[in-house]
Amino acid sequence: MSNSASGRAQEQALVEILGVATALSGATDLRTLLHRILTTSRQLTHSDAGSIFLVERADPRREPQAEDQLWFAAAQNDSVQIAEGEQQLLAIRYPLTAERLVGWCAITGEVLNIADAYQLDPQLPYRFDRSVDERFGYRAVSMLTVPLRSTSGEIVGVMQLINRKHDPAARITPSVASQLVRPYDADDQRLIEALASQAAVCVERTQLFENQERLIDAIIAILAGAIDAKSPYTGGHCSRVPELAQMLAKEAAACSSGPLAAFGFADDAAWREFRIGAWLHDCGKVTTPEYVVDKATKLETNVNRIHEIRTRFEVLLRDAEIARLQGLLAGGDPQALAAGYEARRRQLEDDFAFVAASNLGAEFFDAGKVARLQQIARQSWQRHFDDTLGLAWEEHERRTDGGRRPAESLPVEEPLLADKPWHRVPRPAQQRPDPRHGFRLPVPELLYNLGELTNLSVSRGTLTEEERYVINDHIVQTIQMLEGLPFPRKLARVAEIAGGHHETLDGRGYPRGLSAEQLSIPARILALADIFEALTAADRPYKRAKTPSESIEILAGFRDRRHIDPDLFELFLRSGVYRTYAEAFLKPEQLDDVDIERYLCPAASC
Ligand SMILES: [Fe+2]
Ligand SMILES: [Fe+2]
Repeated sequence: MSNSASGRAQEQALVEILGVATALSGATDLRTLLHRILTTSRQLTHSDAGSIFLVERADPRREPQAEDQLWFAAAQNDSVQIAEGEQQLLAIRYPLTAERLVGWCAITGEVLNIADAYQLDPQLPYRFDRSVDERFGYRAVSMLTVPLRSTSGEIVGVMQLINRKHDPAARITPSVASQLVRPYDADDQRLIEALASQAAVCVERTQLFENQERLIDAIIAILAGAIDAKSPYTGGHCSRVPELAQMLAKEAAACSSGPLAAFGFADDAAWREFRIGAWLHDCGKVTTPEYVVDKATKLETNVNRIHEIRTRFEVLLRDAEIARLQGLLAGGDPQALAAGYEARRRQLEDDFAFVAASNLGAEFFDAGKVARLQQIARQSWQRHFDDTLGLAWEEHERRTDGGRRPAESLPVEEPLLADKPWHRVPRPAQQRPDPRHGFRLPVPELLYNLGELTNLSVSRGTLTEEERYVINDHIVQTIQMLEGLPFPRKLARVAEIAGGHHETLDGRGYPRGLSAEQLSIPARILALADIFEALTAADRPYKRAKTPSESIEILAGFRDRRHIDPDLFELFLRSGVYRTYAEAFLKPEQLDDVDIERYLCPAASC
């Protein structure tokens, strides 16, 4: 080659390498980049064929028996139609051993520049694998195999160029291959090593991205699992809601007509954003005390305080017995004393049965029941022991009002049931949400009100106003946590998607009271999935799981009251997502037939 010709070739090589470097900084699709690098490498060296293999390291912590592997990430051949064959090649995986050329190169990092692959010295520790030639009717002669070495020195793959041609346009056939090709020289090798290092950067960068995404996804799954593990009753909610939400989202994205026709996910990143939002939709529940989440009876704190109250009834019954015996000792009428004791015993049994039933929260607790409870509460019992002993400092402070409570002389008369000052647990300033988030959820004055009468008088369910706030506060915590995380731009909407699942179309949802216009389709999908999962979830302490038809009846009510999106509800029914989900996740005995015609809007279509 003349000096000027050689100069032009070097110039072209430089331009090509710069082109690859530019492509590297712009694209993130590894396959496209590797194909570009392989094409450039082949063009610059007049190679007829070439492949890039990547190393896949086994993770012995997950699979102790697994071994490192090599697989085809790109394969090109000018003489063989490889387009369909490439799919087969890409499926081939070799164990990473030193016997084959590529394996030797990947393990030792040695560049192998071979004049004729079929004439390798049998004493060499590696051999040429002819199986690919045989499969495609090809003949490899000269070969250049170079390692892809990452910036940290790790070998992440191998680039192999095959058959450097005299004439770039020549077509290689097995019979004439030896005459048409020549060995690779030192210049080729230097050039290809430079391109191989660019390929290694591509691989390393992609693996970093993938590892980072895998790590984020694993942390999210751990968090969702931890929330589910907090409660044996709501367990599985955080992992089932994303399943249902994705089913519905796929149907919504597939709509090509109707009100959801314009909805879709722009790319994989948008899907991932939605998936993460769904996984994290209740992440604020890590802050919710278990006793509130699972509060099964009205007197429950960390224990069911009905036992403490029952002991007071026991005391009163013994007092009645003592009164009868003292009456006998004083010469009283045995029959009259026994009758008095009997009447008192029956009254105590009745009263306790009423208090115990009140504790369950199964029925609406009306004003008449509250009045009877207060009447029972007015009875008194005698306490002989100091109730400020054996307390943690916090409860001691509360019970003695910071030492200001006057000393009492024992015994004291105590009401049978009471709301005491120390039942009122004040709300610390840090337990108020940050006003910058724009939450409109009214915050109760107290953190907790443990008053016995207050709790037993709860009209519906088991939760006091303060505990209901604690439950609702999980969404405030969710939003605060997610808005505080530095999500990359592609995941910027995670907080919005996750944080809108308790908002309603009529603007009366929480915690922000957003309007319909402010609620995105993904947030609306999540709201519907959240309700359906919660209704059909099995084995809550206070309710049995609802069947699909019962749950859809309730959802239809929510649709009518503009709590949930009517178009998504329509799609939920028409697409059969409710049934697919139910069959996959509900107990077989829970399944029933749903007459969806009752709920469909006749004009709607998708
Ligand atoms: Fe929630
Ligand atoms: Fe939820």
